[in-house]
Amino acid sequence: MKLIIDDADVKAIRRIWDYYPCAGVTTNPSILAKSGRPPFEVLREIRAIIGPDAQLHAQVIAREADGMVKDAERIVRELGDNTYVKVPSLPEGFKAMKALHAKGIKITATAIYTPMQGYLAGMCGAQYAAPYVNRIDNMGYDGIKVACEIHEIYKKNDIPCEVLAASFKNSQQVLELCKYGIGAATVACSVIDNFVKNAAIDEAVEAFIHDFEGLTAKGTTMSSC
Ligand code: E4P
Repeated sequence: MKLIIDDADVKAIRRIWDYYPCAGVTTNPSILAKSGRPPFEVLREIRAIIGPDAQLHAQVIAREADGMVKDAERIVRELGDNTYVKVPSLPEGFKAMKALHAKGIKITATAIYTPMQGYLAGMCGAQYAAPYVNRIDNMGYDGIKVACEIHEIYKKNDIPCEVLAASFKNSQQVLELCKYGIGAATVACSVIDNFVKNAAIDEAVEAFIHDFEGLTAKGTTMSSC
């Protein structure tokens, strides 16, 4: 399961990118709005941080298929080949996905709440389908189950699309999906920051350093003892 950053806070992205094994960055219009900056200015800055080979996902805004295709072409022109265009998984979106697939533009089907949306997006040529795990949970359904069902549908029907699970509020939701071997999970920087936050880990590492410095001298490491 690839780990992707779901954020447009460039400072936070730079930090997480530096520490963790991330495959790219996803955004959506609400995430971009939080930055308060022109959308392509932020997206180009994110592209510069992650480099040309990493995945960058940006969403179309138009309501109709023709407009979505135009939005997609601009997104790819501005942000380069390794850019996935996020298209909402509703009727106009499926029409746009078919057209984009024919043009060879990479697609992430988004706003997925049901396995049927996932199935249709895969059949329309999307590379990724993004079920909203936490939002589904909040509706009283099971977001993990929806993501796993879509994963199963792709495997059983040989549909070359992967689940890119989205909308997480905690580490446990992410880890649960990792066990099923889905394609990717996209997670906000604030949630990734809590992946490894545990006093026991810090205490263990501090004790090792303290003991080593007792053996050698304060401030020494393996490269300087
Ligand atoms: C990803 O495609 C979604 O845009 C995003 O993860 C939604 O997250 P939220 O439910 O925290 O807004």
